Amino acid sequence: MAFLINSDPERVRVFADEFARELPDLRFASDPAVIDRAEVRYLLTWSAPEDLSSFSNLEVLFSIGAGVDQFRTDLLPEKVKLVRMVEEGIIRMMQEYATLAVLALHRDLPGYLAQQARGDWRARPVLQAPERRVGVLGLGMLGSAVLDRLRPFGFALSGWSRSARDIPDVRCHSGEAGLKAFLSQTDILICLLPLTAETRGFLNADVFASLPAGASLVHVGRGPQLDHAALLAALDSDHLAGAVIDVTDPEPLSADHPFWRHPKMLLTPHVASVTQPETGAKAVVANIRRHEAGLDPVGLVDRNRGY
Ligand code: NAP
Ligand code: GLV
Repeated sequence: MAFLINSDPERVRVFADEFARELPDLRFASDPAVIDRAEVRYLLTWSAPEDLSSFSNLEVLFSIGAGVDQFRTDLLPEKVKLVRMVEEGIIRMMQEYATLAVLALHRDLPGYLAQQARGDWRARPVLQAPERRVGVLGLGMLGSAVLDRLRPFGFALSGWSRSARDIPDVRCHSGEAGLKAFLSQTDILICLLPLTAETRGFLNADVFASLPAGASLVHVGRGPQLDHAALLAALDSDHLAGAVIDVTDPEPLSADHPFWRHPKMLLTPHVASVTQPETGAKAVVANIRRHEAGLDPVGLVDRNRGY
């Protein structure tokens, strides 16, 4: 019985130490060439190997990331559990990035960067936090953690998810029926939806038109959820005031893509949040223990929903 990890040497080293301490009887491997694939019961990887079927006794496929859209679930045997990453490091980093982005938009950092480039010393209009409505698309592990981190600033918080949620101090909306009301009362929209058939292309012209004039976008979900042309049109018509974009399609963008130099946009190269090796290794060990005790792993993906 073996655990196979497909990752960079530093992450492998940290996982190897944790597994040697916590699961010494489970064979640990990082090189698929030195292991009989039939021995592999657990595989941790960012994306599935092409010949996944040769892992004939695989029981759990662990994603190194929170997203699982890189896996073709139709190619995954029914008996294999697909598990997304749920660990404190990736949550903390997303809280940091979302806070950075919301404060940058709330205090109009793009406007001040443009003024600095022009040598223009001038105060810009500012709203107080309770007057700024911040709304999160997706109220799962990351969306709800981001709302927790934003709460002390005093923003007016809301969120939207598929099923109804109840989160203290957050106005929760759900489903298709709740979307328009949610968008119409959101000044800073944060996308933390997983990429599924339903959310592909979600951030489109209709969604932007449903936001109040002067609203902004923080996109930290997945690139294919965003219609680039629609965002550019909304920014250039001044309906949207700004955008902080961490994920695009493709990644990286071509050198001449307008996002690079757009004055109302802050662009980062898909770095908002990354699974941390130490806490990630502990989470995977705990999940193997759960699985071996006959329990569902934390972060088990529902194949019908796609997340
Ligand atoms: P999660 O715990 O599975 O939560 C997903 C949330 O989205 C849930 O609240 C779910 O609603 C909602 N949702 C899904 N489909 C929906 C739909 N069609 N309509 C309405 N709501 C829908 O996911 P997570 O761990 O928070 O991660 C979210 C995503 O963040 C990941 O999938 C990944 O793409 C992205 N991410 C990005 C980075 C980065 O660095 N940029 C890093 C990590 C993750 P219910 O609550 O009703 O199920
Ligand atoms: C990063 O984007 C992740 O899904 O963990």
